[in-house]
Amino acid sequence: MLNFMRSIPLNLLFTVAPLAILISACTAVDNPSLTKPSSPNKMAYPSSIDPDLNEHIYPNEAVIAEEISDVIEKSIRKQYSVGTALRDAHPKAHGCVRAEFQVKKTLSKNLAQGVFIPGKTYPAWIRFSNGSRDATQADIKADARGMAIKLLNVPGKKLLEDEDFTQDFIMINYPVFFANDPNRYMALMQDINSDSFFKKLQIPFALGSKGTLIALNLRTKISNPLQTRYWSMVPYQLGLGSNRQAVKYSARACSPIKDPIPKHPSHDFLREALRNSLQKDGACMEFLVQPRTSNTMSVEDSMTEWKETQAPFYQVATIRIPKQVFDTPDQNKFCENLSFTPWHALPEHKPLGVVNRMRKVIYDRTSRVRHEMNSAKRQAPQ
Ligand code: HEM
Repeated sequence: MLNFMRSIPLNLLFTVAPLAILISACTAVDNPSLTKPSSPNKMAYPSSIDPDLNEHIYPNEAVIAEEISDVIEKSIRKQYSVGTALRDAHPKAHGCVRAEFQVKKTLSKNLAQGVFIPGKTYPAWIRFSNGSRDATQADIKADARGMAIKLLNVPGKKLLEDEDFTQDFIMINYPVFFANDPNRYMALMQDINSDSFFKKLQIPFALGSKGTLIALNLRTKISNPLQTRYWSMVPYQLGLGSNRQAVKYSARACSPIKDPIPKHPSHDFLREALRNSLQKDGACMEFLVQPRTSNTMSVEDSMTEWKETQAPFYQVATIRIPKQVFDTPDQNKFCENLSFTPWHALPEHKPLGVVNRMRKVIYDRTSRVRHEMNSAKRQAPQ
């Protein structure tokens, strides 16, 4: 995600600055242009795509993903001193909360795949966050908001080897992503991280008009992280073999009631709202799956929404967040040291599309860098 610029002239401030604040990866086919030699410690770029689900390759995407990882690594090392490194995107957490992911007792066969075993309950951790790369940004500023779910005790071989028993679902409170072209994304990262004032002015050109509009619209003000709706933005496989399909995810509060935005919000009022809600009561959210209903709904174009009118969402699980005290130094530290990635997944939930393919190597790199800088062990939560 992005987050850019601080020193732009006023007349451009209203169009470009907000983006700066925000933006801060059967019959799979092996494709040699995807693979890239990797050192033993380097995460391998996805070695195959699924043409039957309409995945296709962008020229040099594996190389570009490494270049983006390099730019982000450099940025983290420059921005943070040893022991204080945070995520490059979504560094400000509102809290990590314990939850239960209760799969519905009855599900149609096409949805009862992977972790969606009817009647099964998984313990989970959920990290709520702001999207801005600025961890010190006040919550009242319009921003993208993140919800990262980590299911625990999930049996079965995973797509990555670093966490054996987890399944992650990562979402933001907007249905589409602002970029789907690796070259554009690379140009954007170079502009954002450049010290040159003129490079920063080029950010809207890197994003294009559609990307710029999405990046502006996905910044919203919310009153409580438990009361906004989240989307995966990008697609995932559901199921294996000839029955596999492309789906997107979403999560929303069980109740439509929303608190008003406070008139005099404190700097971290979203953490306070989360704390107050869970001090009094538990919370309930629905987890939804949107199966693709037509091949015209692209798995590579994450900038175009799969309209709900044409492809409805179906509830597959209820997320119960019990009454709890989550805001303790130990739990906050634990939260910061978690690593979420779309690739912490069963093969039944394989991430699809170029944005997800690139995220495989980028998230691994940035997680390794921040853990190394903080002398923190990368480990799966028990
Ligand atoms: C190529 C595109 C993308 C890039 C380069 C990117 C980059 C990043 C990075 C570097 C992190 C921090 C990882 C870590 O240190 O552990 C991150 C976290 C995150 N990203 Fe992305 N991202 C991309 C696309 C997306 C998309 C499409 C979504 C939509 C759901 C998303 C949602 C999130 C969220 C919610 C987090 C915070 C996860 C947590 O709580 O740990 N990102 N992203």
